Amino acid sequence: MKKVYVGMSADLLHHGHLNILRVARELGDVTVGVLTDQAIASYKRLPFLGFDERRAIIENIKGVVSVVPQETLDYVPNLRFLRPDYVVHGDDWKTGPQKETRARVIAALAEWGGQLIEPEYTAGISSTKLIQGQREIGTTPQVRMRRLRRLLAAKGIVRVLEAHNGLSALIVENTASNEGGRREEFDAVWLSSLTDSTAKGRPDIELVDRTSRLQTMNEILEVTTKPVIFDGDTGGPVEHFTFLVKTLERLGVSAVIIEDKVGLKRNSLFGTEVEQLLDTVEGFSGKISAGKKAQVTDDFMIIARIEGLIAGQGMDEALQRARAYIAAGADGIMIHSKEKDGREIAEFCARYARLEQRAPLVAVPTSYNHLTEDELRALGFSIVIYANHLLRSAYPAMKRTAEQILARHRSLEVDGDCIPIKEILNLIPGSR
Ligand code: SPV
Ligand code: MG
Repeated sequence: MKKVYVGMSADLLHHGHLNILRVARELGDVTVGVLTDQAIASYKRLPFLGFDERRAIIENIKGVVSVVPQETLDYVPNLRFLRPDYVVHGDDWKTGPQKETRARVIAALAEWGGQLIEPEYTAGISSTKLIQGQREIGTTPQVRMRRLRRLLAAKGIVRVLEAHNGLSALIVENTASNEGGRREEFDAVWLSSLTDSTAKGRPDIELVDRTSRLQTMNEILEVTTKPVIFDGDTGGPVEHFTFLVKTLERLGVSAVIIEDKVGLKRNSLFGTEVEQLLDTVEGFSGKISAGKKAQVTDDFMIIARIEGLIAGQGMDEALQRARAYIAAGADGIMIHSKEKDGREIAEFCARYARLEQRAPLVAVPTSYNHLTEDELRALGFSIVIYANHLLRSAYPAMKRTAEQILARHRSLEVDGDCIPIKEILNLIPGSR
């Protein structure tokens, strides 16, 4: 029998895929290289189904003799190992982002006289259409919650943007770019205490109560499918924090971040301009472990936020706290800094890397915003949170509009800055 190789994600399987597999099995024994989560996340969104689920589906399709993981978008490592007589792929990759991958397949096959077979792409169906359909159906709490851990396992750095209501959450959910064939999106939503409070015209001092914060959370969950990270401020007293964990878990929130402060909480970006009292190491570690005990699933994450650098307590203190919080069960460490040049954060990262026990590191680069995602990743960060940027950009736009109307005594001049009525009416699905 001839050897035939097919590479696929096998996430949203449709008759187009089955056609490819039919052509392949007529040529010989079919091996399917199922792309791993890592391979897929390197060029587009994380698949809905995990690798094991996708592999199980393909293993049970007629004519598939074996299934192997394909660890990269590039076929060549698997092809050199298996040396198939044929590779089968739809002809859609002759143009567009996969052109380069195709050229490499042809070159590799030529090394042993293999051949590329390209059945005509099946019209009328595509993963893009199915994804759209999936978005309209929505998600479930369990599926959504797990997604943050899956993203952490699959991606170099998980990209998170702030939302403070349904509309801003829709921007996080739907904004995408397509540069050089790589689809870029935000991976998750941050429900910031600063922007949730500010959007209500209230100070960021834990004044907006939990009922109200959870109301905003509900608005966001209603209109999105992406994982959500909740800014839990100090988490409140231990006895309250355990309830918060259970509530968030029930809603399908993926993680809570709590900071090691006590007393009246002020926003960290004030730094030492205002009094910021730190909890004791024992006190905060106790809060983390109580939270870990309270959670029901293995999927929910409690991330400990270290405010030592913000409060001017120095590097040694921050590292000692990281060590203690991880020992207490923290699933991640957020290290906050308001130094602009990024040297403080880089020093923390270098020393953190030498700790024996580590957890994924979270950055909030509001101050050191010249660092790119690649640079943050190189420092050792696994999650980057753009914590306030949708609200901060909306505010000057709204203020300018208000000033213009005042100055002109009419609204004609602001029309250019506004989304047209036709578009705003149709912006939200189901409006007509
Ligand atoms: C928030 O977004 O509310 C945060 C991050 O806690 S910061 O504002 O930088 O403290
Ligand atoms: Mg906050």
